[in-house]
Amino acid sequence: MSLGNYALKDEIREYWTKRAETFDQSPGQFIKPGAEHDAWAAMLRRHMGDDARQVLELAFGTGEVTAILLGLGCEVTGLDLTEAMLSRARAKHAGKPGLRLFLGDAEDTREANNRYDAVVSRHLVWTLVDPAAAFRDWFRVLKPGGRVVIMDGDYVRLSRIGRLRLALSDWLSARQGATGPAVDRAAHEAIQQQVYFRDGLRPARLRGMLEEAGFTDFRQEKPSGPHAAQRKGAPLRQKLRVGVWNSFVLSCAKPG
Ligand SMILES: C[S@@+](CC[C@H](N)C(=O)[O-])C[C@H]1O[C@@H](n2cnc3c(N)ncnc32)[C@H](O)[C@@H]1O
Repeated sequence: MSLGNYALKDEIREYWTKRAETFDQSPGQFIKPGAEHDAWAAMLRRHMGDDARQVLELAFGTGEVTAILLGLGCEVTGLDLTEAMLSRARAKHAGKPGLRLFLGDAEDTREANNRYDAVVSRHLVWTLVDPAAAFRDWFRVLKPGGRVVIMDGDYVRLSRIGRLRLALSDWLSARQGATGPAVDRAAHEAIQQQVYFRDGLRPARLRGMLEEAGFTDFRQEKPSGPHAAQRKGAPLRQKLRVGVWNSFVLSCAKPG
């Protein structure tokens, strides 16, 4: 690992350490029980396949996707870079069988070869420093036929409509005094400008890199089910933000 990369990972870790305590209050983060939970579960099952049981979850954060995976009957091993996230996720899922959560780096998992049916991540890939190395590692730890499932978005490029929606949402929030948890926007910006996908994470580019790592059998969709459930009953200021960042789910397989 180069010194430059080391410094950037420290920055990333520090940023998420500060956000850990209130992260579940951020819009779109916490997965509501009921319709939203079911929509995430159905989408994950579609992409992982019916038989996926041994799952490696990368960047579990506060453990929201972890809960869905456990609900699907999977045995989950999770790695996250940030100790504060690890503590929260461990507390949230204390005593649940079939779960092992550790500190670790998604770019170098140090897991055994051919061990998992699926490697799953939400909102991780945009922040990878060396995604090509990460994808080679995920290929290595998957069993033949196993699938990578990436749920992410392009957090750099916004359409004009998207910009308008965010501006209107910010305006409504200020008017209603509805401030969310504090976010260090300068730190976020600084990280975004240094990561590999600093120009934005586009599914087509991602797919090309995954193909280079050896993956095939691609499936892609928009997370319309979870988004519809997030909009339902939410105040307008939150509805406006749902789906603004061109979110996608992309999955592919290690040839079996
Ligand atoms: C936006 S949060 C997503 C959390 C969770 N996946 C979710 O969707 O609820 C990003 C998480 O990625 C973790 N992270 C960032 N870079 C990482 C890396 N290289 N390896 C492991 N975790 C990483 C952070 O610690 C943080 O918990």
